[in-house]
Amino acid sequence: MTEPSPSSKPFLRALKGEAVVPPPCWLMRQAGRYLPEYRQVRATANGFLDLCYSPGKATEVTLQPLRRYGFDAAILFSDILVVPHALGQAVTFREGEGPCLEPVRLAKDFAGLTLSGLQGRLRPVFETVKLLSAAIPPSTALIGFAGAPWTVATYMVEGGSSKDFVETKKMAYGQPELFGRLIDLLVDASAEYLIAQIDNGAEALQLFDSWAGALPEDQFARWVIEPTRRLVERIKQARPGIPVIGFPRGAGALYLPFVEQTGVDAVSLDTGIPLDWAVKTLQPKVTLQGNLDPVMLIAGGAALDSAIERILSICSKGPFIFNLGHGILPSTPPENVARLIEKVKAWS
Ligand code: CP3
Repeated sequence: MTEPSPSSKPFLRALKGEAVVPPPCWLMRQAGRYLPEYRQVRATANGFLDLCYSPGKATEVTLQPLRRYGFDAAILFSDILVVPHALGQAVTFREGEGPCLEPVRLAKDFAGLTLSGLQGRLRPVFETVKLLSAAIPPSTALIGFAGAPWTVATYMVEGGSSKDFVETKKMAYGQPELFGRLIDLLVDASAEYLIAQIDNGAEALQLFDSWAGALPEDQFARWVIEPTRRLVERIKQARPGIPVIGFPRGAGALYLPFVEQTGVDAVSLDTGIPLDWAVKTLQPKVTLQGNLDPVMLIAGGAALDSAIERILSICSKGPFIFNLGHGILPSTPPENVARLIEKVKAWS
């Protein structure tokens, strides 16, 4: 059998600006704890990072949702925090507690961070990309990803998840040269990481900026737009033609300058973005992706059906990829995901 050309993959066609009907569909965190088969593999790993660094297991959990649902894209199973780990920061995931990092707060904390071990430490992730590239169905695209510099920096400075980002903002606002060094390091590390993913078979990239919405306009320009623009430029110079999806979650009206200034090919819309506005303002410039509320997928029933139909009817006249506004939650009933994909595939 001959390989179909990449352009016959619906997901990649949509990223090139085509209004594909029915729109391609994948879901953020489509591999994860809501699937019993994920929990089974997860239980055999020696912690979450060990799962990310075990190519056989990471490949298996990436493929699980494809087998069940036939999504149009697979996303590499890894985490945004493997980059700080590869830079030399101590990172652990405690069961039920989320990530825990040795905080980077002072100039001296930067001494331990270096690009030199990155390729070696992340080799298992590149191996997973290679295995996936050979294993996914011919019409399915393979997405690589990284956290955007701002969001990864919040975890590095806070030492884990945060609600108000006081330590990170204190550094960004009060010591912008020092914080700028961290952001520059993350641009370099992420560029290297993403280019290696492409070289091992990733066909598109997504940049997760989960906490982009925490910054005021001028700081957003400096710490979200500018580093993303440089990262996209680096990727496109090194490997032309690889589409990049940006996800500046919570950015509201700042989605527009983000789209105009970063050079991304697509944006993932969070649940709060008004769709009529996005179709009118953003879709003429980039492909849209999104934005079903992940909790609708828990609620199910008629509410889920009408939410799906509403998104499809507003967004699918232009280039569009069906997705959630944020990742699937662990309490999601797997049968509701089946219902979602069935509804999207039936759209005409
Ligand atoms: O299926 C996929 O989408 C691919 C894998 C993926 C994971 N994390 C696996 C994961 C992706 C793309 C991510 C991105 C990620 N990781 C983000 C950005 C997207 C977002 O959700 O905002 C962020 C902020 C992280 C950091 C992170 N990883 C946190 C805060 C946590 C703990 C919270 C939680 O959900 O448990 C993780 C752990 C994590 N990453 C899990 C998975 C499947 C659950 C851990 C487990 O199985 O024990």
